[in-house]
Amino acid sequence: MAVPGVGLLTRLHLCAQRRTRVQRPILRLLSCPGTVAEDLRRDEQPSGSVETGFEDKIPRKRFSEMQNERREQAQRTVLIRCPEKISEKKFLKYLSQHGPINNHFFYESFGLYAVVEFCRKESVGSLQNGTRTPSMAMETAIPFRSRFLSLKLKNQTSEQSCIQSSDQLPPSNRKLFEILCYAESIDDQLNTLLKEFQLTEENTKLRYLTCSLIEDIAAAYFPDCVVRPFGSSVNTFGKLGCDLDMFLDLDETRNLSTHKTSGNFLTEFQVKNVPSERIATQKILSVIGECLDHFGPGCVGVQKILNARCPLVRFSHQASGFQCDLTTNNRIALTSSELLYIYGTLDSRVRALVFGIRCWARAHSLTSSIPGAWITNFSLTMMVIFFLQRRSPPILPTLDSLKTLADAEDKCIIEGNNCTFVRDLNRIKPSGNTETLELLLKEFFEYFGNFAFNKNSINIRQGREQNKPDSSPLYIQNPFETSLNISKNVSQSQLQKFVDLAQESAWVLQQKDTDRLSVSNNQPWGLAAILLPTVPNRRSFTKKKRKRSANESVRNLLESLKSNRTANFTETNEKRTVSTQT
Ligand code: GTP
Ligand code: MG
Repeated sequence: MAVPGVGLLTRLHLCAQRRTRVQRPILRLLSCPGTVAEDLRRDEQPSGSVETGFEDKIPRKRFSEMQNERREQAQRTVLIRCPEKISEKKFLKYLSQHGPINNHFFYESFGLYAVVEFCRKESVGSLQNGTRTPSMAMETAIPFRSRFLSLKLKNQTSEQSCIQSSDQLPPSNRKLFEILCYAESIDDQLNTLLKEFQLTEENTKLRYLTCSLIEDIAAAYFPDCVVRPFGSSVNTFGKLGCDLDMFLDLDETRNLSTHKTSGNFLTEFQVKNVPSERIATQKILSVIGECLDHFGPGCVGVQKILNARCPLVRFSHQASGFQCDLTTNNRIALTSSELLYIYGTLDSRVRALVFGIRCWARAHSLTSSIPGAWITNFSLTMMVIFFLQRRSPPILPTLDSLKTLADAEDKCIIEGNNCTFVRDLNRIKPSGNTETLELLLKEFFEYFGNFAFNKNSINIRQGREQNKPDSSPLYIQNPFETSLNISKNVSQSQLQKFVDLAQESAWVLQQKDTDRLSVSNNQPWGLAAILLPTVPNRRSFTKKKRKRSANESVRNLLESLKSNRTANFTETNEKRTVSTQT
């Protein structure tokens, strides 16, 4: 849910020319070899390249390696609110007194901010030691030392800013519509959409930094805690503007008792006991929520949603513009994110297709930022994965086959659920399937437009339909808690809307002539055409379509597309869909 007054990340170019659309800001970052930034630069692919799977033979990082590396980077990083006019050169010189800087960037979010990553962690301490608590004339500052600082100019008038701002948001609807119309193919459209909407390197860094700042606060109570991002921020399916799901990991604190000591005794902490894990979770989150509310710099709108199936603290981190959901005792969700990371990284068509389907669903209000009977992005992603497992030959392996590739290190049981699967991406055999994204998009709509939802369930563990165990309209088996349905909330009418739209989109994409006419008339075609809002009277439109001649259908479609419906094209800033953990 959007929170008023919270801005969105805007990348600022540092006295630099505008980058082309396909460049990612990572190209401007100064980074040491061997860092994540370096890896990402290596992974960079040219826009529009036909991405059919495993072209990139570079070894891929495990999810845990990637998370640890990014976390370590974030711990060496500070967030600084800057004056509006600032000289970048002087700014860097001033901060370099505390040690060498690995990289930095500026962004705007109702003010100018800098993210500065030092090469060494000690530099952060040195900077903090030279930082004072502000004195207020009318109010009293609560003294709290964090890594979120303000930079003040000693001489208010002396600085000339040479920092130019450049938009880091996804393109506006109009712009996106233009880009898609000028693309050369549907494959090109899907790849373009992905490049425009995916999280940038800076946005990802800011997500890890925000978790790290929250971890500092939680560490006041639990010194060994780790706050880990999960969900779309890290599972490769995150769109600019998506929420930041955080997991407060207290395992280190719990496991201290297992440390071996010599002698005849062992010591245990004196602790308070509560009747259940759920109550413990609620108490922990309640206290952390209070702490964020009272002491957390930039944390606003703190809500403690402790009676949800998965208790959480929701708040807005004003400086980063992220809507945050903090949970604990939610390790399975972290494991789901790891599994999706593997699927998203295995074959480059996966992300392009998921982004396309997510944008399509959002454009037609199939998904929403408000909790309700709609399909969630998580469920949609599962549907795409399942569909790709059903191709011949399969594009993605089943979860069961990932389990057979697992070694002893991968063995993982969470709350009695077997969450074992191979974590090393390099051990998974590439798919021999070379289908184009265009074909996959069409067939996705065909497949789910005709799926027997009334009797079958979707199951990525086995990669085949199974009889539904209950009468939920849409049944997508939770991959790890296999007796649960992740789409239990979806109503029959929402499912029907999805099916109708899938059928119609399949039909629109099949109109080859439409593509050609549309390009020459500068009209929406391909992906752009199916992202347009619903044609009125969709159902009669769909029923009649088979009776009409192809030419007549094309003519009518073009007429309807000519009306100025592009303004409502698609929500670019997709916001939170409340996690209904099942
Ligand atoms: P967006 O926030 O919509 O971009 O996608 P997301 O994948 O982050 O979804 P969301 O924030 O709703 O949930 C965060 C994570 O929680 C998901 O990625 C899943 O790992 C997990 N999750 C969400 N909904 C469910 C659910 O219904 N069942 C289960 N088991 N896990 C869920
Ligand atoms: Mg999320």
